[in-house]
Amino acid sequence: MITVALPKGRIAEETLDIFTEIFNRKFKFEGRELIMEVGDFRFLNVRNQDVPIYVERGSADIGVVGLDVITEKRLNIVKLLDMNIGKCRVAIGIKQEDEIDWSRPNIKVATKMVNITEQYFAKKAMGVEIIKLYGSIELAPLVGLADAIVDIVETGNTMRENGLKVAENIMESSAHLIANKNSYYAKKDEILSLYEKINRVVESRV
Ligand code: PRP
Repeated sequence: MITVALPKGRIAEETLDIFTEIFNRKFKFEGRELIMEVGDFRFLNVRNQDVPIYVERGSADIGVVGLDVITEKRLNIVKLLDMNIGKCRVAIGIKQEDEIDWSRPNIKVATKMVNITEQYFAKKAMGVEIIKLYGSIELAPLVGLADAIVDIVETGNTMRENGLKVAENIMESSAHLIANKNSYYAKKDEILSLYEKINRVVESRV
């Protein structure tokens, strides 16, 4: 049995579609169920940010999670495969009419992604005051809570509709298959066999 932690929503659905394509049977969470068992697999339906916790602590053998989350949380896991789904970028957003003045000594940034933000501004040698938020990040510059945001941009609609623009791109992200370190050794054959099957589907779609 392999336990797979999936991030609720589109990435979970797209991952289950890949399983359906591989094993030619239905993999789907029904209603509000949080655990689903099909054949040799058990799937956990968890919040995006929580996937690494289940995998790192071994409650799941493998999981699917964005590179942004992997980078932010500095995880002690095995990174297996870029699944080429859930593509987005992490970017700095500011108000349409603003520019970032890099000569300023510091900047106030609202974000969920504290570590990525800290690292980026350290590289730019600019002091940063980070305001940690949990969602609706785009609101912060509009009400003067922050000068800028660091957030996920997918279509760019959220920023556009709120009068913000991308000032700089920080990183590209997409969903990656990760494994718990112990599981990766204890269940190496099963995990590698699954890895190869998923890889074949991912490559066939490029
Ligand atoms: C994410 C992100 C942006 C939005 C970007 O939020 O934080 O707000 O998606 O997508 P877009 O460029 O296609 O508009 P999410 O929907 O995950 O909600 P959250 O604010 O609760 O994180």
